[in-house]
Amino acid sequence: MALKITVIGTGYLGATHAAAMAELGFEVLGLDVVPEKIELLSSGRVPMYEPGLEDLLAKHVAGIEGSSGRLRFTTSWEEVGAFGDVHFVCVNTPQKHGEYACDMSYVDAAFTSLAAVVREGALVVGKSTVPVGSAERLAGLLPEGVDLAWNPEFLREGFAVQDTLRPDRIVVGVQDAGGRAEKTLREVYAVPTGQGSPFVVTDFPTAELVKTAANSFLATKISFINAMAEVCEAAGGDVVKLAEAIGHDDRIGAKFLRAGVGFGGGCLPKDIRAFMARAGELGVDQALTFLREIDSINMRRRGQMVEMAREVLGGSSFLGARVAVLGATFKPDSDDVRDSPALNVAGQIHLQGGQVTVYDPKGMENARRLFPTLGYADTALDAVRGADVVLHLTEWREFRELDPAELAAVVSSPVILDGRNALDSERWRAAGWTYRAMGRPRA
Ligand code: UDX
Repeated sequence: MALKITVIGTGYLGATHAAAMAELGFEVLGLDVVPEKIELLSSGRVPMYEPGLEDLLAKHVAGIEGSSGRLRFTTSWEEVGAFGDVHFVCVNTPQKHGEYACDMSYVDAAFTSLAAVVREGALVVGKSTVPVGSAERLAGLLPEGVDLAWNPEFLREGFAVQDTLRPDRIVVGVQDAGGRAEKTLREVYAVPTGQGSPFVVTDFPTAELVKTAANSFLATKISFINAMAEVCEAAGGDVVKLAEAIGHDDRIGAKFLRAGVGFGGGCLPKDIRAFMARAGELGVDQALTFLREIDSINMRRRGQMVEMAREVLGGSSFLGARVAVLGATFKPDSDDVRDSPALNVAGQIHLQGGQVTVYDPKGMENARRLFPTLGYADTALDAVRGADVVLHLTEWREFRELDPAELAAVVSSPVILDGRNALDSERWRAAGWTYRAMGRPRA
């Protein structure tokens, strides 16, 4: 009989995982402790913008016309315990208030609730990003006869559906290689592995570390190129050309070398901090002190963007200056504004007296909630109307497709600062703009 799957925690990761499991042909039950979330998901909708996710839900959520009916949602732990052969724990692990360490309270609560209802012979699979050592401790919370596996998730916002259905690797940490837990997960992931996704079996600590190591490497790559941008600025070099040239070396690779205002979001910043905190507990903090530098290079970018704006405005104060900000989310194709460099820069300028107007294709609602005192416009054109300087801070396609001549006609002064090195500088200059970008010559 086909395995029955539950997904505990239906946020970004859980909602996508639940829909993907239904797409792979399994009967799926998703649980969340927030009833409003369950209500929304049961009607095939999601509380965030993620391309393709609502379509996938509508294809499978029971009660929606024409759906497979394989996906349901509940708030009942008893139902989850009775239903599931395999339980995926997908709750979030935010940064603790006032410290670097990761807040494990949602994971601990989920395991405690699940332990009380799980059937003998079932498999529990942790997907949340946790400090190394957690899986072994959590295994101790589960009753006899219930196995645990750790299966980190690598999905990127904006590509969540594709990354979940066709992962570039599946990592499974087990206590007993070749045992029951591994066999069950090979069955769960038979379709993607059949399509070529590598299946890597490890022990618990390695599986937990793979996730934090991968995110640390990505953060390091971005901060490396941003450090090069700082040097390029001082030396008159061009970081975009430099990235292109070093990226041709296969060992380096061209991806994740876009210099600009740096990384943000709900993962990279908090994951590298939690990793440093955990290394400290393990007595190997020296091994990760470089991550402190990665973090500070990244945070410095935001301040440098503010300074670049101040400089083009005459060098002293933002008082009375009109500043347009294109982009509020931490990356394009997402409505996520958590730790967004764009909003951070907008906020800093606003707090120093600038009149900031923000426009973002999908992030307006979340941005307004986080920063209600900033100005907001309904279109890019409205945002730049009367502006003394325009800041491009999130690289949405919509911004690359703007007509620089149309914008030039409504601004007070045609000056654009490209904080993502993503606009076509020639096009903007040809339309009469002063174009400046981070890590590039002024031209
Ligand atoms: C990341 C990891 O990529 C993913 O594997 C993990 O599961 C969760 O964390 P995500 O947070 O969705 O995913 O964003 P990602 O695409 O990695 O981008 C992170 C940040 O880096 C964004 O703010 C982006 O704008 C920035 N970035 C990315 C750069 O500044 N330059 C680059 O070259 C690439």
